Amino acid sequence: DSPQWREQERRFLEGWEHRLDVATLSRRQLPVVDPNRAAHFLNEADSDWTQATTRRHVDAAIANWTPAMPPQPVELDTTLDRAVSAAQRWSSESVAQRAEVLHHAAQVMQQRRFESIAEMQQTAKKTILEADSEISEAIDFARYYAEHFPNQPGIVSQSLGVVVITPPWNFPYAIPCGGVLAALMAGNAVILKPAPETTDIAWRLVEQLWEAGVPRDVLQFYPCADGETGKRLITDPRVNVVVLTGAYQTARLFQTWRPSLRLYAETSGKNALVITAQSDRELAVKDLVRSAFGHSGQKCSAASLAIVEAEVYDDPIFQRQLHDAAASLQVGAATDRTSVITPLIRAPEPALLRALTQLDAGESWLLEPQSSPDDPCLWSPGIRLGVRPGSWFHKTECFGPVLGVMRAENLAQAIAWQNDVDFGLTAGIHSLDEKEQLQWRKSVQAGNLYINRPITGAIVQRQPFGGWKKSSIGPGAKAGGPNYVSLFARWSDASSDV
Ligand code: ALA
Repeated sequence: DSPQWREQERRFLEGWEHRLDVATLSRRQLPVVDPNRAAHFLNEADSDWTQATTRRHVDAAIANWTPAMPPQPVELDTTLDRAVSAAQRWSSESVAQRAEVLHHAAQVMQQRRFESIAEMQQTAKKTILEADSEISEAIDFARYYAEHFPNQPGIVSQSLGVVVITPPWNFPYAIPCGGVLAALMAGNAVILKPAPETTDIAWRLVEQLWEAGVPRDVLQFYPCADGETGKRLITDPRVNVVVLTGAYQTARLFQTWRPSLRLYAETSGKNALVITAQSDRELAVKDLVRSAFGHSGQKCSAASLAIVEAEVYDDPIFQRQLHDAAASLQVGAATDRTSVITPLIRAPEPALLRALTQLDAGESWLLEPQSSPDDPCLWSPGIRLGVRPGSWFHKTECFGPVLGVMRAENLAQAIAWQNDVDFGLTAGIHSLDEKEQLQWRKSVQAGNLYINRPITGAIVQRQPFGGWKKSSIGPGAKAGGPNYVSLFARWSDASSDV
């Protein structure tokens, strides 16, 4: 605790904004498909000192932490009526005024970073690193949407009206933030219906956005059960758009409830990382483990499968490295600073439980997952070898800390298996051979493609995020990309003869 240390810390805290700008800028300057390792920039640029300092401030935030107390929702009819009239007022604000509010939101989220991390650690069981990256993404959304509202001479936009945002519990801050801010930027009023598991985090976000200048009727918070009240919200004709990030079945249910619904849904995934004989194998293992087990595998983008070319698959060193890398991940409570694998947000559902406990024909454990005797939500990572094409694990989303490995004869077979699933969210390849990369890029069916980097952790603007096939329902524009805000407006280019 020397004076030099305190001075260094003061500069560090003052420099947050700048540090993030540099990080974001540096990432954006990189090519979209990056054969190097720079995609780790934000997380790995943090020195031990930086991480230690972040931890100290999160500790202080936790010491002062009291659980957020979301209010009881206002009656649904009142909420909807307020939203309708707020939308009319908000849409008449200028684009510049709305952009200013978004920029202000970025500042407030920055100032509240440590308390948001504390909240996410307590409720969503996120590690500091996962929570910190999530807040960075939210800040990036705010700045990007503020700066990228389409502005073409002669073309005017109208907002759509009332937008309902229904985010998931696994990214309880960044995903609602992105949806809310895109809809607000285009002049809509928003009703945020949080995931029941992480209502408190969504509530903190709403308070921060109000503090940044978003009017309280323009953004309303509406926590409710997913059942009957949720159905009334989705089916009410005063709602013009619903944005869902969640399971494919939920999106289908919404469509059954209201066939004419304008629904923008990012849904499930069954994502694979291909590793060829031409890869940097150590880097592949590192990226695979990170993609499969980050946030205990509870990401729609997570690697559920590794499809490995025979020469690598059969290499005992590859298998040992993969085993050791996963086994080395510390399993424990989110509040324990050494934990990397933290408790699942809810006890495993049937598909995940099966994936964690039962093998199918031809499969064996490279690393058998274990549950904690003290906590039914805490599972160590599992790796299944010998997953066969067409098998249950090949096809089924499991959403937890379990990875299946398939042995492919060659790249063509690996790509065929990678594509032979219903979903198409993220996909990756590790190969240093440009011909292989091109072959893969021409035929892989997924929204987000990653070469020689992890397949999670998309970066706003650089890797706009969204899927293909059953991973996406609706117009398919990607979050954090150039067309996303446009989805929330009508565009007209009426011309006159004079
Ligand atoms: N946007 C999140 C990721 O890329 C889901 O991992």
